[in-house]
Amino acid sequence: MSASRPTTALVTGASSGIGATYADRLARRGHGLVLVARSGDRLDALAARLRSETGVAVETLVADLADAAALARVERRLRDDAAIGLLVNNAGSALPGGIADQGPDAIEGLIRLNVTAPARLAAAVLPRLIAAGEGAIINVASVLAVAPEAMPGIYPATKSFVLTLSQSLALEAGPRGVYVQAVLPAATRTEIWSKTGHAVDSVPGLMEVGDLVDAALVGFDRGEAVTVPPLHDEAQWNAFSAARLALLPGFRQSRPAPRYGV
Ligand SMILES: NC(=O)c1ccc[n+]([C@@H]2O[C@H](COP(=O)([O-])OP(=O)(O)OC[C@H]3O[C@@H](n4cnc5c(N)ncnc54)[C@H](OP(=O)(O)O)[C@@H]3O)[C@@H](O)[C@H]2O)c1
Repeated sequence: MSASRPTTALVTGASSGIGATYADRLARRGHGLVLVARSGDRLDALAARLRSETGVAVETLVADLADAAALARVERRLRDDAAIGLLVNNAGSALPGGIADQGPDAIEGLIRLNVTAPARLAAAVLPRLIAAGEGAIINVASVLAVAPEAMPGIYPATKSFVLTLSQSLALEAGPRGVYVQAVLPAATRTEIWSKTGHAVDSVPGLMEVGDLVDAALVGFDRGEAVTVPPLHDEAQWNAFSAARLALLPGFRQSRPAPRYGV
């Protein structure tokens, strides 16, 4: 899909932070918008501002993506609305503490929002985009997808899922004209920090949210499969990917490795 083509974009988690900034930037690129989150008042205020500043059509869709019925409503919209050519899977949250501190309900809720929702929303829109032979999906993961050392708890694993999901989607849909981008932010100034009990100004190496999204959209325009805005040395990511791919032939073995003595 051409990055400047003004199809409608559905942005999840658009009421604040990275999602609200995507909404702003996509509206300025001429995309109509469907904004999804739980906070209807915040979505309405953003929609009104973007309509008046950019003239694009902006709709809001209030939905708790951790709720099965609400998720199904957003899926239906993605399946049925032929104007939507871009899905931004951005909604997400984190939990304080380590895995031993995160009770079963909190773990279940986080997985529903960070894992189940992006997978199901991508699966809902994909057949239509493939049939059209164009369109795009942006999945907001995190550098924690490859760096569980940097934060305890379930959250990094949810972001590893989003990265692998993006790679699988790209393999399946890329040859059929659908562009899939995984975006891996590091620490970015948004409300996610205060929501998980962190004083945002004490976070080292914090990126401003506008810089993060502007860089991610340059990565989109470059057609990158994985965009890591904070990583200055692109060759490091390329070497990491090459090392992973180099493992693949070694996995095709009928016998266990000699070190296991089987
Ligand atoms: N900020 C960072 O340092 C950072 C780093 C790496 C990755 N990320 C990722 O970036 C994405 C955006 O986060 P952010 O930093 O912009 O945080 P944020 O400001 O807290 O925004 C999170 C967005 O998700 C929505 N959301 C939360 N729970 C939801 C639910 N159950 N149903 C529907 N929407 C829900 C929130 O809206 P409502 O509360 O109105 O529902 C809000 O719009 C997340 O996937 C996060 O994991 C952030």
